[in-house]
Amino acid sequence: MTQKLIIDTDPGIDDAMAVHLAFADARLDVIGMTTIFGNVRTDQATRNAMALAEMAHYSVPVAAGAAIPRRRDAATPADFVHGPEGFGDLPAMQPAGGPDPRSAAQFLCETCAAHPGEVVICAVGPLTNLAAALDHNPSITRTVKAVVVMGGSAARHGNVTDYAEANIWNDPDAADAVFAADWDVTMIGLDVTEKTQCTPDDFAALADAAPHIGGFLQQASSFYFDFHEAKTGKRSCFMHDPSAIIAVTDPALFGFEDRTVSVTCNGDEIGRTVTGVATDRRTTRIAMTVDSASVRAIFLSQIKAADRCAQARKTS
Ligand code: BDR
Ligand code: CA
Repeated sequence: MTQKLIIDTDPGIDDAMAVHLAFADARLDVIGMTTIFGNVRTDQATRNAMALAEMAHYSVPVAAGAAIPRRRDAATPADFVHGPEGFGDLPAMQPAGGPDPRSAAQFLCETCAAHPGEVVICAVGPLTNLAAALDHNPSITRTVKAVVVMGGSAARHGNVTDYAEANIWNDPDAADAVFAADWDVTMIGLDVTEKTQCTPDDFAALADAAPHIGGFLQQASSFYFDFHEAKTGKRSCFMHDPSAIIAVTDPALFGFEDRTVSVTCNGDEIGRTVTGVATDRRTTRIAMTVDSASVRAIFLSQIKAADRCAQARKTS
């Protein structure tokens, strides 16, 4: 039995890795994508998400999300991490199709209501669309099966400021609303995503095994390696968004602690995920440890098979 999945994403290089991983994993049925600003603007994210699906011959609706955060102006896209169009030095994507007519919030609510208790939402960008879905139809907390968030940091530093991880920092008000809501949330933060890394040799092997999709990821990731090398001195990249997808398929690879999460929305520590302090909300399952060798191995083996999966879909 496959797990129905909606990916809320701001593609983005590691988003592209995560999306292709989900498309290639036979245990997942990606029934929708919703898009959000962050690594790029929302209109670019929507084009990129549609292009990723077309690249993999994966027929899936893509609904465009919010253009700006819940209560503040949009931050500048992270083009220094992901490139001007989101995929490193590659030019703007030109998908053949168009987006779903619904807003991301409407799409999330209607799709979860159509399959009550069956859909996992994996959010790998700022949480604006999920907060908007809670406003649009609060019963989504009962119709969704679970929410898995790539974002935040419990015991570690941030990656935008000393305190804030990028997805939370881009819309702290939305993130706080998501962690405060009465639904099943798992947080895959920097505590685990920075522990799993891949190298240019890994992506060369992906390009050999799967020239179309692995080759695309290899080309896009070169820019991502430049960013990481400038930051850490090592030519290897953190597997942020793919880790969240693997937390859906292989949760046993992570060690979790259940604590409340609240998000600092003002002051120097804005965007910080504060754990175990709030008493007004249910707990979040926070990943604190990871079997990073296995996460890395799953990512690499699934992407190596990605072209075969795409070809099978094309001819079926
Ligand atoms: C997160 O921020 C984005 O740059 C990545 O795509 C990932 O979702 C990591 O902090
Ligand atoms: Ca992302």
